Amino acid sequence: MSKVRRFAVLTGGGDCPGLNAVIRGVVKTFLNNGCEIYGVLNGFNGLINGTLVPMSHASISGILQRGGTVLGSTNRDNPFKFAVEKDGEITYEDRSADIVANLQKYEIEALVVIGGDGSLNIGAQLARESGVKVVGCPKTIDNDLPCTERTFGFDTAMAMATEALDRIHTTAESHHRVMALEVMGRYAGWIALHSGIAGGADVILLPEIPYKIESVIKKIEDRKAAGKDFTIIVVAEGAKPEGGELSVARIVKNSFEQIRLGGAGEKLVREIEERTGIESRCTVLGYLQRGGTPTAFDRVLSTRYGVAAAEACLRGEYNVMVSLCHDKIETVYIQRAAGNRQVELDNEIIKAGRQLGISFGD
Ligand code: F6P
Repeated sequence: MSKVRRFAVLTGGGDCPGLNAVIRGVVKTFLNNGCEIYGVLNGFNGLINGTLVPMSHASISGILQRGGTVLGSTNRDNPFKFAVEKDGEITYEDRSADIVANLQKYEIEALVVIGGDGSLNIGAQLARESGVKVVGCPKTIDNDLPCTERTFGFDTAMAMATEALDRIHTTAESHHRVMALEVMGRYAGWIALHSGIAGGADVILLPEIPYKIESVIKKIEDRKAAGKDFTIIVVAEGAKPEGGELSVARIVKNSFEQIRLGGAGEKLVREIEERTGIESRCTVLGYLQRGGTPTAFDRVLSTRYGVAAAEACLRGEYNVMVSLCHDKIETVYIQRAAGNRQVELDNEIIKAGRQLGISFGD
């Protein structure tokens, strides 16, 4: 009798709407094809420490619409640079051999890594240097991964930011204020751009286009002169003034990416208020963009990614990431897929925004 094929799945990095829907797609596809599937707890930490649990139909029941990840996650614990603290000092160890040993111990044929840039990079390194068979799934609200048109989670984040803009509009109008909404996205402006268009923003500030404060103020004053005594601004957390610095909120040692952005919106509204005398406020949307139930679009995309990742494993097609291309799910070489993708300056949505008279601060 031939041996039952066994696989494992993990979620790495920040949580993201749709993670559970991907897990469900992966698990159902493996089980329905006569395979066994283990869930790795808390990202790569679980692979280093050998905390894997067998998944069944019962373990994924009712999770399609749930936010977060039933497997747990972390954006720390890079196995190739695992931080160990001793007497207040941090040293780094390579724990990738533990991963290989645990995968062998559990007789796992291949690993599905559901993650963003940091986790996919680790997956790619495990494939390259440790011979682990990996299939990646592109996760992040930031939509900043190359080699795919969409990451899952982005649609939900964009919808949340759009709803926030609709709500902010009413206060801006009633109080004749400048209202800024700071959105996430790290070094890419996808959430800011899409929600700014959907939410009817007057100014959209992206990391890709360093802004001139004078241009932003001109837009506010032009609107005032035209009888519009309020202005809505979407500011990406990675936006910065021309010749200025990024707004760094904190440094998280031992994280895949140590810098955490934050504060760009508050910095902007203070300067606007100082220069114009118009009352200005900033709302930071933060983790509301990441938590809670995924949109229908994200549930469908996540399910497609999960099924496709398991199917790639079943075919023995490894060291790839599943990706969306012209609304079809394809596979791309994982080494190419782990990286960052910013908004292109000639992006058609930026051009459409300019036609509408939206200022990008340049
Ligand atoms: O990558 C997702 C994201 O939410 C970014 O938009 C944000 O900059 C970062 O993660 C925040 O990370 P943390 O959860 O560590 O604060």
